Amino acid sequence: MQIQLLRTFDEFSACERLQDEVWGTLGAGRELMAVTQKYAGVVLGALVGKKVVGFLYAILARRHGRLIHWSHMMAVREGFRDLGLGFRMKLAHRNIALAEGIQSICWTYDPLQSRNATLNLTRLAAEVEEYVPNCYGPFASTIERGVPSDRFVVNWRIASAAVIRRLKDGPANLGAIADTPRANLTRVNPKGLLENVRLDVRLRAPRVLVEIPAQTDTMRSKAPELALRWRMETRRIFQHSFAVGYRVAGFVSPTAATAQKCFYVLDRKRSRRALASM
Ligand SMILES: CC(C)(COP(=O)(O)OP(=O)(O)OC[C@H]1O[C@@H](n2cnc3c(N)ncnc32)[C@H](O)[C@@H]1OP(=O)(O)O)[C@@H](O)C(=O)NCCC(=O)NCCS
Repeated sequence: MQIQLLRTFDEFSACERLQDEVWGTLGAGRELMAVTQKYAGVVLGALVGKKVVGFLYAILARRHGRLIHWSHMMAVREGFRDLGLGFRMKLAHRNIALAEGIQSICWTYDPLQSRNATLNLTRLAAEVEEYVPNCYGPFASTIERGVPSDRFVVNWRIASAAVIRRLKDGPANLGAIADTPRANLTRVNPKGLLENVRLDVRLRAPRVLVEIPAQTDTMRSKAPELALRWRMETRRIFQHSFAVGYRVAGFVSPTAATAQKCFYVLDRKRSRRALASM
């Protein structure tokens, strides 16, 4: 498997098909991809032989007055996921951006997609900077399945010491979480799906956990109403937490050690006085 810049219309057409397969929508057609590759950004592919099984599409953009790369899409075909291709495409993109003098690559992802959280936060050390409700409006995506398209905006400071350290040393140790207060208490319902039984958005502890389902796509296909509830409940938790000074410090992925549960770890940055006045 090889990561390389895509050049031909056949390759761009393969990316169109992949978008259709993954999202059921077309974010960038082959015409735009060809222009982007030549003049406006980066189109990377993950190839098995000559077959495109993944791609990354990014454009030169401006954020807070600085030039950045905005990575609008990355997808890996089912059956080729969890093999490190997403990670490798991000690394290749980083090298290209650094060579162009770019310091930040930003993108959005759905906070309820735990695989994306693992890749973005744990493997890459990207930082969550915003919560955008319904970011793309009514989004006809098959991944979204009728749930509002809320997104985290992440900033990957590709030249920072923190990112260099993470890429060299691997995931940071977030410490024990067993006794950490939780913004949401959950249970597995009789259908075998995770649901919230209590939300506590008034927590003031220095560190708080927010649990999310480890298999959001399954839930969205089996129980759309519950999936919608998860969106609205976690929207409330994240918006409130960010407003009172919490920031995402990391993500605990689902493993045997966590009984296949997964959590965002939020740390509070603001003083008690600021919190009391809110
Ligand atoms: C997001 C996506 C591009 C990642 O590609 P990928 O090649 O599978 O990514 P990687 O293999 O590099 O990394 C996936 C990580 O998630 C972990 N993971 C797998 N399933 C998981 C789950 N249910 N919960 C949490 N983490 C999970 C993997 O173990 C791996 O971590 P590791 O490298 O520490 O083992 C791919 O899943 C995809 O195409 N998703 C649909 C489209 C999408 O959401 N695109 C991103 C927004 S535009």
